[in-house]
Amino acid sequence: MSLTAMLPLLKEAEKQNIAVGAFSVGNMEMVMGAVKAAEEMNTPIILQIAEKRLKNSPLELMAPMMVSAAKNAKVDIAVHLDHGLTVDCIKAALSYGFTSVMLDCSLLPFEENVKKTHEVVALAYPSGATVEAELGVVGGNEGDTAEHKIKCTDPEAARLFETETGIDALAVAIGNAHGNYPVLPELRFDILDEINKATNVPLVLHGGTGITDEMFKKAISLGIRKINIATASFDALAKASKAYCDNAERPDYFALSEKCAEAVYENVKRHIAVFSNK
Ligand code: 13P
Repeated sequence: MSLTAMLPLLKEAEKQNIAVGAFSVGNMEMVMGAVKAAEEMNTPIILQIAEKRLKNSPLELMAPMMVSAAKNAKVDIAVHLDHGLTVDCIKAALSYGFTSVMLDCSLLPFEENVKKTHEVVALAYPSGATVEAELGVVGGNEGDTAEHKIKCTDPEAARLFETETGIDALAVAIGNAHGNYPVLPELRFDILDEINKATNVPLVLHGGTGITDEMFKKAISLGIRKINIATASFDALAKASKAYCDNAERPDYFALSEKCAEAVYENVKRHIAVFSNK
């Protein structure tokens, strides 16, 4: 059990008709909480960080920690660059030993998305790293950009995109959005079903925070093999920090650190249980 590429985890999930949780991390406590949950549930996970988060959590500090945590884990763990914005960042992530990368060109016209994604596939190929790409527009924002208006993935375009790029995993837009949903989203399972029938690659659901367990299970039954969870873990950590500091007579850093890791652990564990029927 160790650091592994992402694709084999998704392929195994396909065989078992489950999904692998991809948990965003921004510090040591988040890494420790997520890995502890995966080990306790005896289930592989993906540790990921988005390029926009590197302002707060620099890659040169996060990457060695994430890769080392995966190497030392008792379960298989892939380490993924989520929503890469630049080819330089993809190269840096690969050089640190990330086993999966995503360049997010979903806002570009189809042909440009194909061209840039194809470049990333060529870059990742020598190290055997997995490549995820996105087609259509997931709502909300991942970081500090403007809100994106949802544009559902076109199933026929998805089929062409897969063939022309050689990607390993495809993030779909089916009414999902990053961040906390103001109201429960109505995911377009009809479109997901069509995308699943039109493509052969494992499908990825972004914007996992706030989606109900029933919706996760339905999405998994229609080919979703990777589910991204970020906001729920960041919120759990922030809430636990506040509760601890509000109640402690003399807040202690070490106790606070444990509370933070514990909050992320609980959130990750809860999601693993749903994604893998445990
Ligand atoms: P949430 O922040 O909504 O969980 O989305 C996570 C995500 O999709 C990261 O790419």
